[in-house]
Amino acid sequence: MIHYMSALKSNKDYQGAETLEDVESYERDGSRIMFLNMIGRMRLPVEFAQCDVLYVEPSWRSGVKEFGKRAGLPVEFIPYIKSIIKCAVYAQIPTYIVSGKEGQKFFKGAGFSSIDILLNGGKSKLYMINHEVVPEGETSMDAIEWLAQRYSCVGDFSCGFGRSGRIFKEQGKRFVMSDINKKCLSAIKMSLMS
Ligand SMILES: C[S@@+](CC[C@H](N)C(=O)[O-])C[C@H]1O[C@@H](n2cnc3c(N)ncnc32)[C@H](O)[C@@H]1O
Repeated sequence: MIHYMSALKSNKDYQGAETLEDVESYERDGSRIMFLNMIGRMRLPVEFAQCDVLYVEPSWRSGVKEFGKRAGLPVEFIPYIKSIIKCAVYAQIPTYIVSGKEGQKFFKGAGFSSIDILLNGGKSKLYMINHEVVPEGETSMDAIEWLAQRYSCVGDFSCGFGRSGRIFKEQGKRFVMSDINKKCLSAIKMSLMS
């Protein structure tokens, strides 16, 4: 099973991923949805309107070029992080974003609060806005599991191989996920939508 999309060239999960020939740019399995989308507009696509929480682990500055190269699209860190923040602020639902200290000035400036969290063993920040509660636990996986117990449908607009959606599905909940990379869509179609 595919686990995590990192920008490391040695990322075995990405190396082992394939692009399905029959994958469309929009895949639906009942109420679970995954589609290709590049974050770069002020507001989120309408599909995310059914979500009651947003959870995202966006690319860090060091990975942005690699993710853009893989998808054949130009991605720059500052426009990307600013778009993520605008999307979250306009959505007006509880939003949790895992990023590094590098994003701190952008998130804090937009009114996000933060706690320390471990992402794949590394020190990170969980930035939060429109939230009433702070997740318990030390890791990003703990946070997703905690959110999946409280919310019905997670939205993740840089979903990679879909860890957030997978944990929500395991708890019988729904997801709306998008990414710029067709391999992510293929992996999610195979592992979470059949
Ligand atoms: C750190 S990975 C996410 C990992 C994910 N949580 C998982 O379970 O695999 C960041 C993702 O952001 C995506 N991405 C980068 N730039 C993007 C953009 N402008 N719009 C949407 N997705 C983007 C990348 O393709 C990558 O899959």
